[in-house]
Amino acid sequence: MSDILTIADLKDLARRRVPKMFFDYADSGAWTESTYRANEEDFQKIKFRQRVLVDMSNRSLETTMIGQKVSMPVALAPTGLTGMQHADGEMLAAQAAEEFGVPFTLSTMSICSIEDVASVTKKPFWFQLYVLRDKDFVLNLIDRAKAAKCSALVLTLDLQVLGQRHKDVRNGLSAPPKMTLANIANIAVRPGWWMGMAGTKRRTFRNIVGHAKGVGDVASLSSWTTEQFDPQLSWKDVAWIKERWGGKLILKGILDKEDALMAAKTGADAIIVSNHGGRQLDGASSSIMVLEEIADAVGDRIEVHMDGGIRSGQDVLKALCLGAKGTYIGRPFLYGLGALGKEGVTKALEIIRKEMDITLALCGKRLVTDMGKDQLRR
Ligand SMILES: Cc1cc2nc3c(=O)[nH]c(=O)nc-3n(C[C@H](O)[C@H](O)[C@H](O)COP(=O)(O)O)c2cc1C
Repeated sequence: MSDILTIADLKDLARRRVPKMFFDYADSGAWTESTYRANEEDFQKIKFRQRVLVDMSNRSLETTMIGQKVSMPVALAPTGLTGMQHADGEMLAAQAAEEFGVPFTLSTMSICSIEDVASVTKKPFWFQLYVLRDKDFVLNLIDRAKAAKCSALVLTLDLQVLGQRHKDVRNGLSAPPKMTLANIANIAVRPGWWMGMAGTKRRTFRNIVGHAKGVGDVASLSSWTTEQFDPQLSWKDVAWIKERWGGKLILKGILDKEDALMAAKTGADAIIVSNHGGRQLDGASSSIMVLEEIADAVGDRIEVHMDGGIRSGQDVLKALCLGAKGTYIGRPFLYGLGALGKEGVTKALEIIRKEMDITLALCGKRLVTDMGKDQLRR
């Protein structure tokens, strides 16, 4: 554990411990993966101003996201199939986030259900909603998230049709994995993973199986999900979802200032500037490149969050400087989970916290909330 110093170290370990099909599922983008790469690379082009001889004592990373206190402005992003990176993955990641004081967001396409996560956490978590054609199922999901006392609903807008990730097609991605010779050979040499899986009953999409009509088993599930994303979703749907939910609402997947202005009009509490981690529209801009323009366009009409490509605490600070009030990490916590389970998620958060703290000091600031555009060299 002591030689794990970066998110890249966690990634290397996850590659060795997680079956190829699920490691690749995390480490992939749509088509040529150009947007996936740009999300990370574009952070490197942004430079800080180094400042000296200012009092750097009593530093704090604490702030709020949608009015909720966070120990640092880094939430765990919703990610599908997280319970395939590690047995009971969503439950473990939610516990790690809770202990760390940052929000955990559970995906609709999770392995552990809303109720599973609620059973092992004390503080409210956030729930991410995909709008599917089966409206009764969607209403029921919203009600289940309310019953579990989730404190925010994250409505994902950028997956009305699924972007193609070649690796998933080539690997024949499924949960649980099909027992082909290649999969058996790959899993056999990862005993930590399969022993964990053998010891849990959570091996399929538990928010869905047993809740959606006509989905009784895994075979019916795969055809159901591919047909289910609603291509007709539009701005007017945000209104009924907001009303049914009745709590804090975050709109995820905005990459254009016109859409951001539309989002502000819905009365939602925040937007997430996001391209789904480069997994949807290949060739779209990186999130960090459009963040400033969007934040400037909406001003204080709606809170702005961002995700995509954050691999260090420095990246988080750059996003804050360019107008984000909060950020999310997807792959960094998945790599931590795949590498070391709950401890690995904590490790990912600790790495980011330390990097943020040292960078803040060397920029001559004491409070994370003081980071602004003037802190960047331009
Ligand atoms: C393996 C994986 C699964 C994802 N599943 C979902 C999902 O179910 N719902 C959703 O809104 N976003 C999903 N996303 C997108 C993330 O919420 C987030 O936007 C993205 O991971 C941020 O980029 P990063 O991984 O570079 O931090 C997924 C991302 C990954 C990597």
